[in-house]
Amino acid sequence: MRLLLLNGPNLNLLGEREPEHYGRETWANIEARLKTRAAALGIELECRQHSSEGGMIDILHAARHEVDGVILNAGAYTHYGYALRDAIAAIPPPVIEVHLSLPEAREEFRHVSVIAPVCAGRIAGFGALSYELALEAFARLRGPEEAHTR
Ligand code: DQA
Repeated sequence: MRLLLLNGPNLNLLGEREPEHYGRETWANIEARLKTRAAALGIELECRQHSSEGGMIDILHAARHEVDGVILNAGAYTHYGYALRDAIAAIPPPVIEVHLSLPEAREEFRHVSVIAPVCAGRIAGFGALSYELALEAFARLRGPEEAHTR
């Protein structure tokens, strides 16, 4: 199984950015742990980051026939990125929406996710563990036996 993990704007600053919301762990650290976990699950994981919506869309388009699923933290585009929403709807692989924080517990503008309706699922509020849980979800759902116990 091949997965793409795509982070949007400002997530490259994890570790130093608003630690009260996003923790003190750097992305490099989180990525290293995810790669180890992915390898243990027999998953090939590619991690990318782009700060612009167009750049994120280009990455999704390029991956659309290459991966079996996408773990996506769209950052603030989650709340108003209609072009990103359309890109998710346009591509075959299922996308799991991920957030470190719980957007519903924060400012009102974060309460809406315009991408949620076109995602396969959503994991939010568990800090860096949210990414790992998404990985786990893809691993558990991949087999036909697992899929039909849903
Ligand atoms: C975020 C939540 C968004 O509201 C915010 O704009 C981010 C990070 C999260 O992971 O909690 O950049 O997606």
